[in-house]
Amino acid sequence: MKRIAVLASGRGSNFQSVIDAIRKGTIPAVCERLVTDNPHAPAIARAQKAGIPVSIVPFGTFGSKERFEQELLSVMQGIDPDLFILAGYMRILGSSVVREFSGKIINIHPALLPSFPGLHAQRQTIAYGAKVSGCTVHFVDEGTDTGPIIMQRCVPVREDDDEYTLAARILRKEHRALVEAVRLFCEGKIRIQGRTVKILI
Ligand code: GRF
Repeated sequence: MKRIAVLASGRGSNFQSVIDAIRKGTIPAVCERLVTDNPHAPAIARAQKAGIPVSIVPFGTFGSKERFEQELLSVMQGIDPDLFILAGYMRILGSSVVREFSGKIINIHPALLPSFPGLHAQRQTIAYGAKVSGCTVHFVDEGTDTGPIIMQRCVPVREDDDEYTLAARILRKEHRALVEAVRLFCEGKIRIQGRTVKILI
């Protein structure tokens, strides 16, 4: 059994899909903690309902990004799981955190990277006029949404889409792609080779 922890800032539907997959036995892991920077995140209630302990590191109370990062790092070191999942965690992780847990942090992003990194990916997609989009699960490195790609899933962009209808279509794929990637990681089937991720079958 692997030990995992999740970082989330908001709604937590991706977090919920991981909780559900663990409960069903699809992901061979124990989720040991939810870490959030947002004391009002709906993800907190999801954790409580599932009996998962929560650490709140509220960004606003630290006065500087450096102090926040220090506290976040020490909370993460205290957990020290096999894998951290960023599931709607809306801040860029500082390099101290990324270096400490290199190869042990994955993120889900609602676009086909390297297109449309950063915030409001679905809005960027619509504004650009792309005809396909999707989601990307990737390892986290020191850039913004630039780490080695584990898995991508596509959706069409329809003529009448706005960022919300597109986001809803992508989200359904996110839930499945994230569970699949976490399952493979927990089964020891993922290898990072430079920029590339190999999936062992
Ligand atoms: C998802 O679209 C995720 O890809 C993005 O933020 C959203 C979070 O949704 N990073 P949820 O909190 O998992 O419901």
